[in-house]
Amino acid sequence: MLLSREEMTFDWRGARLHPGRDRALLGWVMNQFLYGEVTGIQCGHWLYAAPDLDAARFFARQAVEEFQHVDNFLRILDLLGEKPAAPHALVRFLSTGMMPATFEEHVCLEMAMGEGFVLMALYGVIDTIDHEGIREILLRAARQEERHVDFGERRTALAVRGRPALRRRLLGLSLVSTWAVRRLGRFLQRKLPRDHPVLARLPEFLEFALDCGQLRQRRMGLVEGSVADLSPWRKAAAIAAAYGTSLAALPLRLLPRRRLTDTHLRDREVARTDEEQSGDGPLHIVR
Ligand SMILES: [Fe+2]
Ligand SMILES: [Fe+2]
Repeated sequence: MLLSREEMTFDWRGARLHPGRDRALLGWVMNQFLYGEVTGIQCGHWLYAAPDLDAARFFARQAVEEFQHVDNFLRILDLLGEKPAAPHALVRFLSTGMMPATFEEHVCLEMAMGEGFVLMALYGVIDTIDHEGIREILLRAARQEERHVDFGERRTALAVRGRPALRRRLLGLSLVSTWAVRRLGRFLQRKLPRDHPVLARLPEFLEFALDCGQLRQRRMGLVEGSVADLSPWRKAAAIAAAYGTSLAALPLRLLPRRRLTDTHLRDREVARTDEEQSGDGPLHIVR
């Protein structure tokens, strides 16, 4: 990943979450994660739209992993003695309401940025929970989430290197999701008890997570300086560009799209040059 575990680790200064005392709060948190994992069904959509074999393979494996995570969160709810429940409206909006239109938007917004935020929330629970069994389940899930974030980062960086014009659009869209994360933070601040050692640090944690998100945007090559230094006008222009292009591109999206079944013979993994083919390839077996 472009950010290390250390860079994404927030200093909770010893604050802890207790499965007994904080049962209802932990139940609420796990239900937000549970909903996020069920959005793994969207891997099916991205598998069908995959531009190459590398991406298709990744989405197929990711779907399996996200449904393992569904089981993980059901198991944790069981351990807590809490029931599965509906997510908060903003979590729903962030995970399904903003479903992007293109592969590039998906890898940037949902995988690098979105799963990046989810990963930091997982680290937050892992670092504070007083329950070895729950921590172990979350550690295993976090390792797989790290791979999802890594794929999103790599493919975003590759996409903007190939098409620099994509930058402004991806930046505009990510400013909107940052706004939604901030709104969710404000909701949490208003609704949750302030005298709790972990919850009291939540506003700081959120700022930290948003800073990490901006660092990620910079390292993927989306922005050169700091996003915080962009003038409100430039931010507004990026958002307008993001949504303006969506409308302008609508006729193109209505055209039948070329899928991997049309293009696989040109795929990097299929159309290898003679030198790329190893000595023990299938041709040699025929001979
Ligand atoms: Fe997951
Ligand atoms: Fe994931």
